[in-house]
Amino acid sequence: MANKVLVTAALTYANGPAHLGHLLEAIQTDVYARARKMSGDEVIFMWADDTHGTPIQVRARREGIEPEALIARAYEEHLATYRGFGVGFDIFYTTHSEENRKHAGAIFAALRARGDVEVRDVEQLYSEVDQMFLPDRLVKGTCPVCKTPDQYGDSCEACGSTYRPTELIEPYSTVSGDKPVLRTSEHLFVGLGRHEDFLREWLAPTDEGGRTILQDSVRKFVLDWVDKGLRDWDISREAPYFGIEIPGFPGKYFYVWFDAPIGYIAATDKWCQDNGQDVDSWWKAPAGRGDGEVEIVHVIGKDIVYFHCLFWPAMLHASGYTVPSRVQVHGWLKVNGEKMSKSRGTFILGKTFLEHVDPAYLRYYLAARLSNNQDDFDLGMDDFVNRVNADLVNKAANVASRSVKALAKLGGTLGALPEDAGELVAACTARLAEVPGLYANFESAQALRLAMEMAEDTNGYLNERAPWKLTKTEPELARSILSVGVYVSKLIAAVLKPVLPAWAEKVEALLKLDAPLTWANAAAPLPAGLELGEYQNLAVRLDPKQLDALIEASKQDVAADAALDGGGEGEAESFDYEVEALADEVGIEALDGVDLRVGKIVECEGVPKAKKLLRLTVDLGPLGRRNVFSGIAKSYAPEQLVGKHVVVFANLKPRKMRFGLSEGMIMAAGASDDAVTLLELDPRSLPGDKIS
Ligand code: 2FM
Ligand code: ZN
Repeated sequence: MANKVLVTAALTYANGPAHLGHLLEAIQTDVYARARKMSGDEVIFMWADDTHGTPIQVRARREGIEPEALIARAYEEHLATYRGFGVGFDIFYTTHSEENRKHAGAIFAALRARGDVEVRDVEQLYSEVDQMFLPDRLVKGTCPVCKTPDQYGDSCEACGSTYRPTELIEPYSTVSGDKPVLRTSEHLFVGLGRHEDFLREWLAPTDEGGRTILQDSVRKFVLDWVDKGLRDWDISREAPYFGIEIPGFPGKYFYVWFDAPIGYIAATDKWCQDNGQDVDSWWKAPAGRGDGEVEIVHVIGKDIVYFHCLFWPAMLHASGYTVPSRVQVHGWLKVNGEKMSKSRGTFILGKTFLEHVDPAYLRYYLAARLSNNQDDFDLGMDDFVNRVNADLVNKAANVASRSVKALAKLGGTLGALPEDAGELVAACTARLAEVPGLYANFESAQALRLAMEMAEDTNGYLNERAPWKLTKTEPELARSILSVGVYVSKLIAAVLKPVLPAWAEKVEALLKLDAPLTWANAAAPLPAGLELGEYQNLAVRLDPKQLDALIEASKQDVAADAALDGGGEGEAESFDYEVEALADEVGIEALDGVDLRVGKIVECEGVPKAKKLLRLTVDLGPLGRRNVFSGIAKSYAPEQLVGKHVVVFANLKPRKMRFGLSEGMIMAAGASDDAVTLLELDPRSLPGDKIS
């Protein structure tokens, strides 16, 4: 009996366009789903937009449109982009749907019936300026655990801790910068601790045929959270909130992370309605890899493990829905070795990529380097070009094109394979046999490596036998040697198919196959005497200039985005603040006497009885360390400053103060004590280096 496999990628948040980070996950998921479909399993890829929550509300407000209009626009954009990249989802739905409301209500009702939901007073950060409670992602401050500054209200990117926004040190609204106040309201909590036994069972390593598959590193991380004690989960938010109102609690809404994953179920429900299936056959079924069981496979980024490996399975289990069989976690996408950067033009939108480069190449490059780990993925532009051209053009397409073109001179019909190709063919089919298992374990890099080995060996064989030299003298021998190239091209096309479906289709047409390539039929021999169909070019060389153009265009995208944020093109600039008048003009020599250096703040503390001051130890590298008092205590907490590279006026005459000697000055901007910002340098700058 075929397995039932439900595959998902994380639901794209509807407040902006899809970028290459989204596409990494989309393509990884798509390759997995397509490969499993080739096994003959009943596989559905359920996907949707994640549409609720305050960031959507805030963005809509800023653009002067309704949230519904914003999410409708994002939906069209996401759909077009993902289709452009050939992502083969079976449905792309939305969490702003009746189905989502229905399943969220059902799960909530089940949790309540079990006594898992409690109502409690909560003190929350409220911004008088923004006129709303500030949710986790609209408030930032210093992590209460590791003291890293500028962390979101729910979790710290530096140390991975999770906490409540009210625990942040020095919180501020990311909408307005306002310092929020505390306000009390009633919230609904789910007691996650009540599901600890289930979660431990779900998280336990299992044998072949067992239930949950998690990467070891993920399992350890999640178990560590469980060991530290599971906190109750606050699932409600106060109006105004763009989301699903909680049945029986007017004015309260499900927190977006409550209804977002339920979107996986809602999408399935909609797909089932459209395809004559029963949603319960997927979501109310035993989970596992046995007959009649359902595998639910989620592919996610490493930032949302907490939601998918704790809350989500607990909610599903508690309400009688199917729990996930596998949660597959990937790392971040980097470009040219660094985090995607708007100023460098490496923050690349999917739609911009589509205008400049064939998306098949990104699919190949990602799949050729992705494996079953959480490592960050570096899209190096040079490596991208080299890899695509070397593998697809020089190796894989070359086997097919040289064989088919030479065969055309012999009438374009295949012969029987020669005996001396036996070893090569056996090695290639043995490799093919490994491929389904590799894809099913998210090891696409290894699978594609096997395809390239097939191509390398076959090109070597063709070079050695040089059949093109035999077409006149021994045409039948030439035909049989060239038929090896055609046969291996079929194997290669099968391996490439989950990644490059269009490539496989061209080969299927060339070989006039009666059925599309699957793992079961890929190695079947081709009949001698088969008259080949028309050869369609499989790959053209990728030109590095296309990538240069892509980077340039991405810089323009950022400018367009900034125009949107800033109120739009053509508007006169206006400022609602004043600055000091510019001083009289001077020559460059005016700077001669001032020696500015790079300083790294290595220690920082408050100064008793001096509310405005902080005492800093600043490292000037080979020039030693300095003790500096700075009047910035109203703008920065000491923990925010350690590690920053700043500009130090280093030859300023030391000044004796009540608290000690101040040996320099940290340069900063800002008109008042509570609005100071330090001149921060790129952390790659070297302490002690002269600034000129
Ligand atoms: O992290 C995100 O972008 C979320 N929109 C992912 C949601 S996945 C699922 F839970 F809906
Ligand atoms: Zn931290």
